[in-house]
Amino acid sequence: MDIRQWRLTTNKQGHLISEGCDLVMLAKEFGSPLHSVSVSRLRKNYHRFRKAFQNLHPQSSVYYSYKTNCIPGVIRILHEEGCGAEVISPYEFWLSEQLGVDGSAVIYNGVNKSVEDLTRAVERDVRLLNVESPAEIERLITVVNRLAKPVNVGIRIYPAAGWKAQFGLDPAVDNLFAAIAALKAVENINICGLHVHIGSGLKQPAYYRKTLRQICELMAEIRRQFKITITNLDIGGGYGVPTVKTLSISEVAAYKLFQKSPKPPVAEDCASIEKFAEAIVSTLQEECKKHDFPLPNLILEPGRALTSDAQMLLVTIQEIKVRRKGLKYALADGGMQNIAFPLSYEYHHCFLANRPLSAATDKYNIMGTLCSPEDFLYRGWPMPELQPGDVLAIMDAGAYFNSFANNFAYPRPGVVLLENGIAKQTRKPEEYQQMIAADIF
Ligand SMILES: Cc1ncc(COP(=O)(O)O)c(C=O)c1O
Repeated sequence: MDIRQWRLTTNKQGHLISEGCDLVMLAKEFGSPLHSVSVSRLRKNYHRFRKAFQNLHPQSSVYYSYKTNCIPGVIRILHEEGCGAEVISPYEFWLSEQLGVDGSAVIYNGVNKSVEDLTRAVERDVRLLNVESPAEIERLITVVNRLAKPVNVGIRIYPAAGWKAQFGLDPAVDNLFAAIAALKAVENINICGLHVHIGSGLKQPAYYRKTLRQICELMAEIRRQFKITITNLDIGGGYGVPTVKTLSISEVAAYKLFQKSPKPPVAEDCASIEKFAEAIVSTLQEECKKHDFPLPNLILEPGRALTSDAQMLLVTIQEIKVRRKGLKYALADGGMQNIAFPLSYEYHHCFLANRPLSAATDKYNIMGTLCSPEDFLYRGWPMPELQPGDVLAIMDAGAYFNSFANNFAYPRPGVVLLENGIAKQTRKPEEYQQMIAADIF
């Protein structure tokens, strides 16, 4: 893959440059490992996404999925541009309040919301509170009756295609219509939404089309049976990016068992966000016409599509070990198991930040710091000759890297925001004292 796919350049020293900043110098100045975020890329990703949908369906609105990358300094930038918040936990909901987001700009999702969570959501007047199960609906009814306060409610449905598992109500098993009847009987509950989320890293819109047909049919049935018109259709996130791909089961097996590195993604395999929008909006329009149903507001909850390519993870090689049969191990200062979990199931390209244009001459197992033989960043990965001090830039670290990161034996890395040649720290590297802050000795 080519550095231009991420709009990166090099400087006179041949170092990789992002937003006018030398990544090798950043790792030295702010400490390695380090996340670096391109602020302009974040802003552009958001506006491109928003426009793609609003150009075709003006009543579309975008709520960034906090779980994808929950660094407050990153989320704040998206809010500055006008993006709403999609939250799935009381912590994320609390964070949205800390960031000054009004309840009317929050979509509250999440499995198994407690009485306390539901209470806060009703009190803060969220734009849409999506319920997930008959038990949660019962809890919500109790809360609303107690607070005597109106709330806009959506129901998450098992989608016709994509993720099912524990999420939402399954119309084949749960008595969806009994649930709607129970909600409708409560004066302050306004049933105005349906919600689906069909997966992550989707490269083509086919799943959305299939799910929209199911959902529109359901909207028509709800209107027939209950005289309720669903005005908000929340279709979740899932939009893939061209530079990352989810590894297939056979790719993971070949990679793990035989160190056969997977092929990089082909950019053309991934539909542009404009193509996603075209397919989604046209299907929605067709289905609404078929059912003589007014076009609902479209709620979008992108995560990866906004943050993935705006961030990279820098790690530094500390040592090279050559084992039997010449197998080379490069030891980095952070690994998959603590700070780069998505590398276990996705392809992420990696550049040598101090010599990004050098050709690969050898294969390396690039390991992290944990005492685990599974703490691979990369297995049998083609790289130029590596030396201690080399800085690796792991691309598309903006989605699910920070979210899955833990402090197994090491503090979590810091984060810098890059804009117009200036690097500003937005998260300091975690300190040992912070790692034990909640402990009682
Ligand atoms: C309900 C919901 N909305 C939005 C998202 C964001 O998904 P993505 O990052 O694939 O856009 C997720 C991710 O799992 C989700 O569960």
